[in-house]
Amino acid sequence: MAQPQSGPGTSRRSFLRKVGLTGGAGTMFATMGALGLAPTAQAAQRELPFHAPKPSDFTLSGRGAAKVVVVGGGIAGLTTAYELGKAGYDCTVLEARDRTGGRNFTVRGGDTTTDLFGNRQTARFGDGQYMNAGPARLPQWMVTLDYCRELGVPVEVFTNVNADAYLFNESAGMTEPMRYRTAKGDVYGYVSELLAKATDTGALDAELTATDRERLVEFLKDFGDLGDTLDYTGGERRGYDVVPAAAGTPGVLLGDVPSASEVFASGVGRYFSFEFGFDQAMLMFQPVGGMDRIPRALTRAIGGHRIRTGAVVSKITDKGSGVTVTYTQGGRTRSIDADYCVGALPPNILAKIPHNLGSGVQTALEAITPSSAGKIGLEYRSRWWELDHRIYGGITETDQDVTHIWHPSHGFHGERGVMIGYYNYGADADAYAKLTPRQRETRAVAAGVKIYGAKYRTELASSFSHHWRQTPHLEAAWHTTTGGPDHARYKPLNEPTGRVYFAGDWLSYTDAWQHGAFTSARKAVTALHARVLAA
Ligand code: ALA
Repeated sequence: MAQPQSGPGTSRRSFLRKVGLTGGAGTMFATMGALGLAPTAQAAQRELPFHAPKPSDFTLSGRGAAKVVVVGGGIAGLTTAYELGKAGYDCTVLEARDRTGGRNFTVRGGDTTTDLFGNRQTARFGDGQYMNAGPARLPQWMVTLDYCRELGVPVEVFTNVNADAYLFNESAGMTEPMRYRTAKGDVYGYVSELLAKATDTGALDAELTATDRERLVEFLKDFGDLGDTLDYTGGERRGYDVVPAAAGTPGVLLGDVPSASEVFASGVGRYFSFEFGFDQAMLMFQPVGGMDRIPRALTRAIGGHRIRTGAVVSKITDKGSGVTVTYTQGGRTRSIDADYCVGALPPNILAKIPHNLGSGVQTALEAITPSSAGKIGLEYRSRWWELDHRIYGGITETDQDVTHIWHPSHGFHGERGVMIGYYNYGADADAYAKLTPRQRETRAVAAGVKIYGAKYRTELASSFSHHWRQTPHLEAAWHTTTGGPDHARYKPLNEPTGRVYFAGDWLSYTDAWQHGAFTSARKAVTALHARVLAA
């Protein structure tokens, strides 16, 4: 549709009236988008429908905001209180730990934790250094970025994929790491060569027309950097031993292009599809200064007086006319009465809290299984990975039990930096969790030395490790809801049980993402608010 112009005698409003009359509401809406008055069709598709409760909602209904007790001060619980608070609900958040945020946990110098095995650690990171022990990256499409914008939390790029980071498969016989760019050059090169030659010799004649074949071969020549004979022979995509510079220095290409068989045997291609994922594709983002800028901002917006930390809930009772939540804080047992309760804590913890919400709720909670994950932050005295390896951010993938090694995506060219020496899951995470913090460091550093050399050990200043399955009051990194959150067995959790609602990333299609917690909280808030307005 042509861009409408307002000319003499045609105000934008009258133009809109005209298209509204002749083209119907759909045309008018699209036109408003083109004029910048409404979201464009594309933007509207991406937006998640949510209307935050507001005080004026009560004007017509004559009702008043209710009292709500929120159990759990992670992202879902804080969002519940934040959104309900916009309409004047009287919310109290009970948080068992000494800080809000739940699994959103940024570790800085001076932070102390004690795990369920009794390991006590105090981070010794220097000023300005930190590790995000939980969530650490934000895709652009997730609502988390909308909350960052709304709450004034600045964000910066998180480098999830870096052509200069390494791949290392010791089990395939690799004795030194390979750069992503080299691996991609070789894998894409040989796959393209094989497919181009198969196409050229007629192997795909039954599937493709002559024109299709011609176009496919053209694409593969470009994609795989093939010559006219359709052979892959390496090239500048793989990288250089000596990089090109001034006249007289054309550069020296990396030597020894491996054979196709060697490339496939190395298994490096298995890491490439990660970046195709809808939730892992670049660009990704992180809050400047640490992921906990988000719960801190939410906590501030809700008001500290509404949040009770160190409050361990021991009973949830639906009394029909209201809810009573009993908790202990500072050695004293207290209770709080409210009109409604939102259970926004991990299902594995909720399942251990006595309640009178029925066996359906209990069975559903117990059907959700918690998962393990762990990270170690390694603080270095120098940023040797930038200086010696020229790696600025990104992730090195390994077949070691450390799994992923992360380079910091901030503080480039600074003096110090914190690498993530392992980010692993399941059995690997549990194996590290069973070690003492010092043993974890030793084991993680030994793996890193194989890839990066001696400085991985000699430049180390301090470390801090964190394991979610062993973290009190959380006991999980994320959860598996077999069959998905809409499976019939979870119905009692997706609907209010009496006056109790549930929220959390575990009740979303994006578990293990804050987006799941935000959207699940929005869902509970919407349902609760509608009920209060209709009561
Ligand atoms: N969302 C988590 C991650 O990106 C699981 O690692």
